[in-house]
Amino acid sequence: MGATVSHLPGEKVISHPRFATFYMWMTDRPLVRRTEDPLRRETVGQAHGIVLEVGAGGGQNLPFYDVRRVVRLEVTEPDEAMLVVARRRLPQAPVPTAVTKAAVAALPFPDVHFDSVVATLVFCSVDEPERGLREIWRVLKPGGSLALLEHVRAQGKIAALVQGAVVPVTTHVSGNCHWNRDTEATVLSAGFRVTRARLVRGGLQPVLCLSAIRPATGEAMPSAARTV
Ligand SMILES: C[S@@+](CC[C@H](N)C(=O)[O-])C[C@H]1O[C@@H](n2cnc3c(N)ncnc32)[C@H](O)[C@@H]1O
Repeated sequence: MGATVSHLPGEKVISHPRFATFYMWMTDRPLVRRTEDPLRRETVGQAHGIVLEVGAGGGQNLPFYDVRRVVRLEVTEPDEAMLVVARRRLPQAPVPTAVTKAAVAALPFPDVHFDSVVATLVFCSVDEPERGLREIWRVLKPGGSLALLEHVRAQGKIAALVQGAVVPVTTHVSGNCHWNRDTEATVLSAGFRVTRARLVRGGLQPVLCLSAIRPATGEAMPSAARTV
């Protein structure tokens, strides 16, 4: 599956080489690793069976897949500058892994193919998050799991206002990052059942750890179980 280019006709090419270079440097800082690695481990640790990771960046999550739970991993990423690093990091993956160039809105995989899908720090950058989540729904098996780790909208009014004011800058300089989205609401409106949602940190940069499933056919959609 490696090296497939997947763009829908007319789809915008995703390319932020300067941000990619900065992001690789930043995510390797010891302080960032100390903060992010436990959250990455928690999120990725939920994956089982045949797994898809979307928007995988430079493969920051690769070392965290559990060889006892994961049979095979498909990693997708649309930005070539991120992709080259992800390919370089492939030996760090403890499970059989393939890397494919693809945006989340056009995944080159059949319907009901994956047991789990993982995305970390992705849905703030995706142009049409609901479309991407519907595409994830398509490739997930009924009962399959979705694990997300995302920067989301601040809880406090003032913090949310500040976030909103800064978004035009972050979209410009941080790879299209809208760090103030209500991603849990988008997950629900895409039809997933949220089984767990936890906000880590507060202030200007809360992080949402969310687990959801694609309900089995015919299953009613209960509301989210939230712990803050
Ligand atoms: C902040 S980086 C996070 C990278 C990595 N997932 C991590 O946890 O470090 C955001 C990633 O989302 C990717 N991205 C942006 N738009 C996307 C889209 N439409 N489909 C899939 N990935 C996308 C970017 O290319 C980038 O790799």
